[in-house]
Amino acid sequence: MGGEKNDWWGPLEGRRVLPPLFLIESAEKTLINALPSCRHDADPLGLVGPALIASGFLYKGSDYPHLEKGGWGGLITKGLTEEERLGNPVHRLAETKSGLINSIGLANPGAKAFCHTILPTLLALGKPIVSNLSGFSVKGYGKLAAILEKEGEGRYTAHEINLSCPNVHGGKLDFGLDPSVIREVIQAVRAETDQPLIAKLTPIVADLRPHAEAALDAGATALTVANTWPGIAVDVPQRKMVLGTGVGGLSGPAILPLTLRHCHALYRAFKCPILGSGGITSVDDALAYILCGARWVQIGTWLHIHPQEALAFPEELNKAIEKEGGLDSFLGALEDRE
Ligand SMILES: Cc1cc2nc3c(=O)[nH]c(=O)nc-3n(C[C@H](O)[C@H](O)[C@H](O)COP(=O)(O)O)c2cc1C
Repeated sequence: MGGEKNDWWGPLEGRRVLPPLFLIESAEKTLINALPSCRHDADPLGLVGPALIASGFLYKGSDYPHLEKGGWGGLITKGLTEEERLGNPVHRLAETKSGLINSIGLANPGAKAFCHTILPTLLALGKPIVSNLSGFSVKGYGKLAAILEKEGEGRYTAHEINLSCPNVHGGKLDFGLDPSVIREVIQAVRAETDQPLIAKLTPIVADLRPHAEAALDAGATALTVANTWPGIAVDVPQRKMVLGTGVGGLSGPAILPLTLRHCHALYRAFKCPILGSGGITSVDDALAYILCGARWVQIGTWLHIHPQEALAFPEELNKAIEKEGGLDSFLGALEDRE
């Protein structure tokens, strides 16, 4: 191994490698002290409860009944892009034994049209609305944020930045794989808005701490941990991959333990505001995320598996948190093993 002692930049083709643990710990303390949003007494995102609907499950606001009732803390929009997108070739969804693989391709009417047609319907539900920004270049994320600020006229409570999009100027690798690119994306969005920003991380790295640190340092208020995991479904008789794009994003029960591990590691490292997303299909799953440090939880695939149960979830979660003595005492209260 080359590089100087305590050198944060390793020999791995210029990519950042982790510093020794003691350096991470001191950097964490500096970062945590610098982040006012790490307090837990007030909601730094302007949400009204811990249960949210994840991005990709609400298209028009009328997709599920009675969202205005039922204790949702906020609703996150479908992934929005600068221009209208029709989405990927079919098939776009594949059901597996333990989850759903999707490759929707960010079908949406474009940010400006969304603000004028669908946003009013969502706002009529009386819940905080969080946008979901999906870009294809660093500049593109900045432009998108500018559109949402101008056309949204401050009606989005917060913006969630989807970092699991292919970077067309970076070999089509997801933005979320490289901490230095994450930093650029968050800075580009931060330059356009003072609203709370949520960096939605891509989970497919062994250690998410450098990625989370870059996002927080660049101005993210909170982290969503995390997006889907890549996977394929195979149609054996046809000898073909099921999805039109081959690879898609796996969500649902299969990913819960995988994403929970990231959530636990990031909360331990940064004590920052976290939204848990991945595999929740019961109140206990949500409580597990909260114990691991997620102050909010997002529900997605559960709405497809068992909509009735999922729609009753926010009220059930609020009761369960109350029973545990309230959010502040339960949040991150997982007993350590070491
Ligand atoms: C059909 C579908 C569409 C999705 N669309 C988006 C999207 O537009 N933007 C985004 O950030 N995440 C999107 N996601 C990811 C979800 O928001 C969520 O993070 C993921 O599904 C894990 O949660 P779950 O297991 O509860 O579904 C989508 C997921 C599915 C299944």
